Amino acid sequence: MKDVSLRRDGTRILQDVSWNVGEGENWAIIGLNGSGKTSILSMISGYIFPSSGQLKVLGCAFGECDIRQLRRSIGWVSSSLQENLHADDSAEDIVLSGRYASIGLYEKPAKSDISKANELMEQFGCTGFRLRPYSTLSQGERQRVVLARALMNSPKLLILDEPCTGLDLFAREHFLSAVTSISESPNPPTILYVSHHIEEILPAFGRTLLLKKGKVHSAGKSRAILTEVNLTDFFEFPVSVAWRGQRPCIHVDGL
Ligand SMILES: Nc1ncnc2c1ncn2[C@@H]1O[C@H](COP(=O)(O)OP(=O)(O)OP(=O)(O)O)[C@@H](O)[C@H]1O
Ligand SMILES: [Mg+2]
Repeated sequence: MKDVSLRRDGTRILQDVSWNVGEGENWAIIGLNGSGKTSILSMISGYIFPSSGQLKVLGCAFGECDIRQLRRSIGWVSSSLQENLHADDSAEDIVLSGRYASIGLYEKPAKSDISKANELMEQFGCTGFRLRPYSTLSQGERQRVVLARALMNSPKLLILDEPCTGLDLFAREHFLSAVTSISESPNPPTILYVSHHIEEILPAFGRTLLLKKGKVHSAGKSRAILTEVNLTDFFEFPVSVAWRGQRPCIHVDGL
């Protein structure tokens, strides 16, 4: 993204955002509510267009390529997607629908797609509820189904927008280890991971972008960005950071 700005209904949502995601890099994106994280992801997936600036995704400049084709190369996991899925569809059908990047399954899937869906469901521990309606699954089970769905097309870019919302401690760690296993698989997708929780920044996310009120506060290697000095400046509030193993933990001081 180069000098990308976004205005909607007279409101400035993003301002002069320049951000380069190199091949093989995985990024965490951190920002308070309303800072523009989901807006950036929606632009990357071609659902909203920048008001100004340049945006190139997977080598494809906006306005010069087939957006539907591009979307098939992008896997997306978010709670808003979850809300739109059909409650009565089975977990397996939801995973299969990722093949067509559709909500709902309108075509008879090929045998090879069914076996791929089942492999992914096994990888993420979904086999026990393969044929159950989506509405009967717990939040953690739903997130794993949606993650499997996002991988059906072997995407080049995997976007995870607050995927651990509503997960208990163990469900969250299971989900995060599934994300780590994706990052370590052969030909892995580039992963963009949005979160409010610093401790979800896995070692696989070598880079972090801090977004503040629609502007890039700082961006670069996670170890350099997630320092006490930088995060205190970012939050405008004193915080301490401790690294446990290769994961950061944050503590708000003085509250
Ligand atoms: N159509 C619109 N018209 C006006 N304002 C909008 C519109 N769409 C989004 N916004 C505003 O843009 C800002 C950024 O929204 P966005 O969803 O990108 O934030 P976010 O960083 O993802 O926040 P959260 O952490 O709460 O998910 C918010 O203040 C939101 O109200
Ligand atoms: Mg959001």
